[in-house]
Amino acid sequence: MTTLTDRLVVRSVVREAEGVRGLLLADPTGADLAPWEPGAHLEVTLPSGTIRHYSLCGDPADRSTYRLGVLREAAGRGGSEEIHTAVDEGTVLGIRGPFNRFPLVPAERYLFVAGGIGITPLLPMIRSLPPGSWSLLYGGRSLGSMAYREELAGLPGVTLVPQDTAGLPDLDAVLAGLPADTAVYCCGPEGLLRAVEERWAGPLHTERFGAAPVEGPSGEGGFEVELRRTGRILRVEAGRTLLDTVREVVPGVAYSCEEGWCGTCETKVLAGTPEHHDSVLGEDEKASGTTMMICVGRSRGGRLVLDL
Ligand code: FES
Repeated sequence: MTTLTDRLVVRSVVREAEGVRGLLLADPTGADLAPWEPGAHLEVTLPSGTIRHYSLCGDPADRSTYRLGVLREAAGRGGSEEIHTAVDEGTVLGIRGPFNRFPLVPAERYLFVAGGIGITPLLPMIRSLPPGSWSLLYGGRSLGSMAYREELAGLPGVTLVPQDTAGLPDLDAVLAGLPADTAVYCCGPEGLLRAVEERWAGPLHTERFGAAPVEGPSGEGGFEVELRRTGRILRVEAGRTLLDTVREVVPGVAYSCEEGWCGTCETKVLAGTPEHHDSVLGEDEKASGTTMMICVGRSRGGRLVLDL
């Protein structure tokens, strides 16, 4: 069986929608892949060494392949461009995972809100639930750009909202009519996530694909960091990240997105008060000050002590 870290081969590449490539990944020997649950994602190392995270959007019961859907983002940082231009059938990709930071919690009823490629983690969730217990509001630039729309079209409870002909999804109307205990799951662009967050006071689960907006200044002010296990005290200069500073003496420290959204660099705080700039930790976790994402986090005081 495929383990947490592995190399998988691209079995097929298909066009899922305008600008969206679908990949099926498999173990080169045909071995079963590691199990996963709806909401899970893979960390993918591309041929160039670039690391990206993609949601699994296939069927968890199919242990022979992992399905990914990747939107080509012209203004992105190059990962999706590489998937669209340099990855093909037979390409071998490095894989870590599956990981799940977006699990489906038990609820009586669900509303799923997807914006564009944000549909990917929601697809397996929808498929795992009984009909009648969920509805989906799925917005996209145009019908042609909305991946998996044919798969979804036959399911009851699906509302497709192509912006070019129908405008933006009417969140006020949809959310106002929901029972308060509805679990709302939202994945898509930051504007959509914010709009839902502003309108829904009930159970809300969101996943961000890119860097989330951070509160307060980032990269301002220097401070000291003590790496307790390593026995070193370092100066984090203004304008440098804590992660970059730590990597000088702990080269193997885990990290991936460097934008505060993947959770890979989470580090225990032993003393001091972290200044959070990530979108991984909940408000309670941030307030506790016991853990932080060192790729974007800094210190509120003169010294931070980390369990590194
Ligand atoms: S490396 Fe992704 S949250 Fe820090």
